[in-house]
Amino acid sequence: MNTLEATEQLAAIESYTAQKLADDQTGHGLDHIHRVVTNAKMLLAEEPSASYLLTLSAAYLHDVIDDKLVANVADAQADVERLLTSLEFTADQVQTIMLIINNMSFSKSLTDDQQPLPLEGQIVQDADRLDAIGAIGITRAIYYGGHHSEKIYDPKIAPRQNMTKAEYRNLDNETIINHFYEKLLKLPDQMNTPVAKRIAKNRQKTMTTFLEDFKAEWNGLK
Ligand code: ADP
Ligand code: NI
Repeated sequence: MNTLEATEQLAAIESYTAQKLADDQTGHGLDHIHRVVTNAKMLLAEEPSASYLLTLSAAYLHDVIDDKLVANVADAQADVERLLTSLEFTADQVQTIMLIINNMSFSKSLTDDQQPLPLEGQIVQDADRLDAIGAIGITRAIYYGGHHSEKIYDPKIAPRQNMTKAEYRNLDNETIINHFYEKLLKLPDQMNTPVAKRIAKNRQKTMTTFLEDFKAEWNGLK
């Protein structure tokens, strides 16, 4: 018998994520999750055929199985499946949420075994990618790069092209500025929904202006 309301299911998922990501210092913390949920709600308003419950559940859970954040991905996946089942999600709903969170990341898009995302997954992927660009995206890249001892910039190190997932994860010789050319400036073209595409255009300008100013100041101009 179904006894839980969607709001109760989402509140329980939110506290599960809060507990899992409480100590994160790599830009995947709870503040990121809350911005992704806010972005997803905004995109949902324009996509009435998408399920609100599945979209927001995946938004809350999308980083708790990330191989950068958990020691054992299979254990983390099984734990999320147990949580969802205990919250009365059907087997189909659990399967859809797992498919979304396993296939939506930028690093997954660098592999050739990525599954197509249902509309709910396309919304969460856009919501996550919007939080990686613009002013917030600049801040997160600097925060992540500092945490991982990246150089700010080195004009002698060229940005990498056509990276595999393993190369993307390898931070040797990575610089914060190169991360923009390797990933962040490419995200606006990869948005799924019309609203995310429009917002991403503005955020792209914020990043290109930042990069122009950065290089001018690096060279002692202005
Ligand atoms: P995904 O989970 O989609 O594969 P990541 O987890 O790698 O993406 O990225 C999470 C955040 O950290 C993003 O804001 C991203 O721009 C930033 N980031 C990832 N790798 C780097 C890097 N090498 N240097 C600076 N920032 C990075
Ligand atoms: Ni994320």
